[in-house]
Amino acid sequence: MTATPRTDDLLARADATIAGGSITLFALSGGERRVLERGAGSHVFDVDGREYVDYVLGSGPLLVGHCHPRVVEAVQRQVTLGSTFYTLNEPVIELAERIIDQVPCAEMVQFSATGAEATFYALRLARAATGRDAVLKFEGGFHGSSDYAQMSLYPVGPPNYPSPEPTSSGIPRALERDVLIAPFNDLDATAAIVDAHAERLAAIIVEPFQRVIEPVPGFLAGLRALADRHGIVLIYDEIVTGFRLGPGGAQERYGVTPDLATFGKVIGGGYPLAAVAGRRDLLATADHRRRGNDTYVFISGTLNGNPVAAAAGLATLDVLAEHGAYERLDALGERMRGGLRAAFAAAGIPAQVMGIGPIFQTLLVDSPVTDYRTMRKADAAAMREITHGVLRAGNLIAPEKAYLSLVHTDAEIDATVDAFASAATRYAERSTSGD
Ligand SMILES: Cc1ncc(COP(=O)(O)O)c(C=O)c1O
Repeated sequence: MTATPRTDDLLARADATIAGGSITLFALSGGERRVLERGAGSHVFDVDGREYVDYVLGSGPLLVGHCHPRVVEAVQRQVTLGSTFYTLNEPVIELAERIIDQVPCAEMVQFSATGAEATFYALRLARAATGRDAVLKFEGGFHGSSDYAQMSLYPVGPPNYPSPEPTSSGIPRALERDVLIAPFNDLDATAAIVDAHAERLAAIIVEPFQRVIEPVPGFLAGLRALADRHGIVLIYDEIVTGFRLGPGGAQERYGVTPDLATFGKVIGGGYPLAAVAGRRDLLATADHRRRGNDTYVFISGTLNGNPVAAAAGLATLDVLAEHGAYERLDALGERMRGGLRAAFAAAGIPAQVMGIGPIFQTLLVDSPVTDYRTMRKADAAAMREITHGVLRAGNLIAPEKAYLSLVHTDAEIDATVDAFASAATRYAERSTSGD
């Protein structure tokens, strides 16, 4: 094995100082960890010079790859002008205009630093607008780290809709009353819950494409109709899908417009920035000139609307606006998913290769995956082992949702597919020989 002195030293120091020796939930298979030093295009390099094709992409912001020259130039220009102002700046105003131009539901925008805050603010806007306290989220739906969002994120107990199961400790028990849980893609079950609790429901919040699961035809339209019937605010969490599935995100792709939508990742171009966008009347409550008014909503933060992040986001959106960018992202995704389907079929391992556009994940299960419960049937241990082989072949990839960028090449994808094919075949051989 190659020596990795700097990695070993830094990991020991991280273990001594940082909780869990990790800064995020991100976990490579086999318990491996990497300390990354730099990224360039579709590649990352660790502190010992090991190079990987990157399918993590910073958990999604880097849709145009690491250090895209246009993004670097925009950031360098802005940092010499000032890093943060806590006040209006031109890049963030232009970014607001861009979001409103491109996103169907966006009539107005407000900014935050992280996606977790954006979804938290969206729920607050909905509660202020309706005068109701409860919100409905879907089991397994991810909306960040807030107390609300941690309800039934990764529940381990049996389903007990609409009662939530907190995924984190430290969540106030009182919140359990106000977060209702429904199964994704099950409109009848959702409608029954909404109809029974409508008078206290402020919002339905949904990832329109939940993790790697497509909405079944009619599901989003059904949520729209339910929300309309009861005066509930429909919120799409587009922190993953926004500006990734197309210029107008999932709402444009699926043709169903929410009242509010949250954005993050891509709009910050790799820097901390997120936003809530939507109906003018809803956003208008977050007007600080209305302080003291009953329906005033507080949205403010030190780094909200940071100009460096806004400049990076604008440069990213400029690159994505160029001819053929989204077609290319879709084609890359199709190439990867098609290759993976063939690879697992050849290895004789039943697999669902999930995803859309530049998002993909393989789940080792022979039945269709339509919600959190069917996703949990997948053989996670086998996938971890196979992914470990792919990591060792020079790909930064975890056994979870993975991302492609505009600068990944067909050849890189084919090589990664080959690595999956070899690892899957080895796994299948070991399983049949009983090793
Ligand atoms: C759908 C979705 N919503 C919200 C978030 C939270 O965003 P952040 O990590 O910026 O707080 C994430 C993060 O991965 C996400 O995937």
